[in-house]
Amino acid sequence: MSELNETILVLDFGSQYSQLIARRIRECNVFSKVVPYSITADELRREKPQGIILSGGPASVYQEKAPQIDPELFELGIPVLGICYGMQLIIQTLGGRVISGQSREYGRASLQILSSEGLFDDVPHQINVWMSHGDKVSQIPENIKTLATTKNTEFAAIKILDRPIYGIQFHPEVVHCESGKQIFQNFCRQICQTQGLWTMKSFIETSVENIRRTVGSSEVILGLSGGVDSSVAAALIHKAIGSQLNCIFVDNGLLRKDEAQSVQKLFGDSFQMKLTTVDASQRFLEKLQGIEEPEAKRKIIGKEFVDVFNDATANIKNAEFLAQGTTYPDVIESISINGNPSAVIKSHHNVGGLPQKMKFKLLEPLASLFKDEVREVGRCLGLPDYVVNRQPFPGPGLAVRHLGAVKKETLDILRDADAIMVEEIKKANLYYKIWQTFAIFVPMRTVGVMGDLRTYEYIIALRAVDSQDGMTADWVDLPHSLVQKISSRIINEVRGVNRVVYDVTSKPPGTIEWE
Ligand code: XMP
Repeated sequence: MSELNETILVLDFGSQYSQLIARRIRECNVFSKVVPYSITADELRREKPQGIILSGGPASVYQEKAPQIDPELFELGIPVLGICYGMQLIIQTLGGRVISGQSREYGRASLQILSSEGLFDDVPHQINVWMSHGDKVSQIPENIKTLATTKNTEFAAIKILDRPIYGIQFHPEVVHCESGKQIFQNFCRQICQTQGLWTMKSFIETSVENIRRTVGSSEVILGLSGGVDSSVAAALIHKAIGSQLNCIFVDNGLLRKDEAQSVQKLFGDSFQMKLTTVDASQRFLEKLQGIEEPEAKRKIIGKEFVDVFNDATANIKNAEFLAQGTTYPDVIESISINGNPSAVIKSHHNVGGLPQKMKFKLLEPLASLFKDEVREVGRCLGLPDYVVNRQPFPGPGLAVRHLGAVKKETLDILRDADAIMVEEIKKANLYYKIWQTFAIFVPMRTVGVMGDLRTYEYIIALRAVDSQDGMTADWVDLPHSLVQKISSRIINEVRGVNRVVYDVTSKPPGTIEWE
């Protein structure tokens, strides 16, 4: 195995932080992925990890059906770090005792470090850490050494004396934990002896080789949407196989202003990719005519997309692979803990994507990357900022931002208003700091007065939200002068609009998109 393949596995016991742990390990330039806790020692041996982390979890180790691990895991000679539940599991598996604590410990705690044993090298003797546990270790087996304590937790960090097995009760992965990064760095370098060669540049080199080997002389098809994931996937695959990549861009008539031209310019002209743009706007708008119900609109768009895509790819000879910009969070959401997904599944996010039952084999070169890593790969491959840092845009496009039945004329109004909003937000240097900023078309007319004349025209709503993952969101209090500027530009420049309103609803109870 080459050093580039250094891996630390995170065994997931259902913690909301499991992905974050993997993220922190990758920040130490070591590849890390989350696997179900039920992985067997044999399976682990095959993975050949340099280290194993046992995550936290919501269960209590002494409960009857609490998730357990294969005890042989501790005999493999692979370094182990148990975090919270993971540490309690180590203690219990090796003969110690875990009980329900009298006082639960949540939030900040002052940790006194008694001994480093590699794990706490270059960490001050006293740090503030982040605790989140109700259970505590009441008795440790004989061959265990205490490395740190807090006021409420006698065994806040431990090590098995004769083996590289460590446990910590606190959460070094959360940002509030002081020296958290150093602790992971120590685990990676001092304890797991990794060199830390995992970078996005090395990822690109390895991926390019893999893609070439997998694809051989076949053709690959990719649905390019202009969004971050498909754009980066296209750039990566193009680097690997050049003209064997066939990109299809479908203009469904529901795109943002000048989207089709900008995709053509970047991918067709600059990158010189084989790019087919299908103008299917007429076809989509006909199918959507008179359809008001949001879910019905979504379904029509999804189905139509597949039909158009199938037509567009029917004549590509020797096409064996369908490439997709699937990323790690998409993959990890389907990992199951005790039958329950470890994260909430965003089913509608794939609307407008491609059906699983197509005849192609899937090529998903970004499936091991987190979003910010995808962006970094994009940057390394020469994609401009406006692509790699782009705000998310929903698959069904403007249809979910245009209430009621869509029409070309009113979609154009929305496109123009949206372009003004985005332009002003960019000018104010806020575009890349905010999760999403966009306009919504409200198909109702209100009375206004312009130049002494009565007007009776449509409403445009403005929305700006901040979010980590789209699951919850807060509305953004944009500077009032900016809102005012956007509003007056829209009313002055977009025919058909005489009123602009600002959406001040968070998610929940609202959703980000209006439909
Ligand atoms: P909601 O409206 O559910 O949106 O609060 C959460 C995030 O998901 C995006 N979104 C979609 N993305 N297909 C997509 O690819 C969809 O059908 C879809 N609906 C919503 C939305 O833009 C936000 O970032």
